[in-house]
Amino acid sequence: MAGKVPTTGHITLQGISKSYDGLEVLRNLNLEVNQGEFVTFIGPSGSGKSTIFNILSGLEPASEGSVQVEGFGLERVFAYMPQRDALLPWRKILDNVILGQELQGVSKKKARAEALGQLAFFGLEGFEKNYPFELSGGMRQRAALLRTVLTHRPVLLLDEPFGALDAITRGQLQVWLGEVRKRLNRTILFITHDVEEALLLSDRVYVLSPRPAQIVLELPVALDRTGPGEIVTSPRFVELKARLLAALKSEGA
Ligand SMILES: Nc1ncnc2c1ncn2[C@@H]1O[C@H](COP(=O)(O)OP(=O)(O)OP(=O)(O)O)[C@@H](O)[C@H]1O
Ligand SMILES: [Mg+2]
Repeated sequence: MAGKVPTTGHITLQGISKSYDGLEVLRNLNLEVNQGEFVTFIGPSGSGKSTIFNILSGLEPASEGSVQVEGFGLERVFAYMPQRDALLPWRKILDNVILGQELQGVSKKKARAEALGQLAFFGLEGFEKNYPFELSGGMRQRAALLRTVLTHRPVLLLDEPFGALDAITRGQLQVWLGEVRKRLNRTILFITHDVEEALLLSDRVYVLSPRPAQIVLELPVALDRTGPGEIVTSPRFVELKARLLAALKSEGA
C-alpha cells in the first residue's frame, strides 16, 4: 500500500475502568494485542465496546488504568472508524477520504494523489467526484475504511463497519476485508455483534459481559482459511461458534 506506515509493537491495556457520572461502563479490563493481530470484541449492546475504542483513540479518558503501545506515543497509533458512517455529506468522495491526512497537515494535492491510487482496490474508482448520498451503503463503508487506512496509523479501530448492511453485501465485504488485511499488514481491532463475522476475520476474540464490561472469554481462532470447502460448516468453525454463543448466552447477552 502506498505511503509508509510505521509498525507498532505490542498493545497493553492494564486495569482499564470507565464510569460516566456513576454509571460504571468498564471494570478493570486487562488485555493485550500483538503486532499485526486481528482482534475482535463481541458483547451485548451497551456493554462498553465503543467506549474501549473511544479510550484508545483518546476521545475519552479512562477513569483508571493505562494503555501502552510498545515503542510508540499514543497520539499517533490509532486510526478510528467510528460506528456511525461519518462521511461528510457536503464533500465529494475523494475529499472525504483524504480528511484524515488533511487534519494531519498533508497537502490536498498530495493526499488526493495517494487516494486516487487506492480507489480501485476499494471499489470506488469512478466515484471520486460523487457525494456520499450517491453511493450504496457498502460503498460508503469502503470509503470510510479507505479514509481510516489513509491516515497511515499502524492500528485500525473498526467499530461495527458492516453493521448496517444486508447479509450479501456484508459477506462480500468480509471477504474483501480479509484481502485488505493481507495487503495492509496492520494491527486491527474490530467490533461486531456477529459471531460468524468474528470467526471469519479474527485471530482472537474477546467476549465481553454486559455493563460493566469484563472479559468473559478469550478465544484464539486459528482457523485454516485457505483450505477447500465452506469454512462455516467445518467442524472447527462450528465448535468455535458454539463456544462463543455459549459465552454470550451465559452472560445474558
Ligand atoms: N459520553 C457518554 N456519556 C455518558 N454515557 C455514555 C457516554 N458514552 C457511552 N455511554 C454509556 O456507556 C455505555 C456503553 O456504551 P458503548 O457505546 O460503549 O456501548 P457498545 O457496547 O458500543 O454498544 P453497541 O453495541 O450498542 O454499540 C452505555 O450505557 C452508554 O449509554
Ligand atoms: Mg458501540
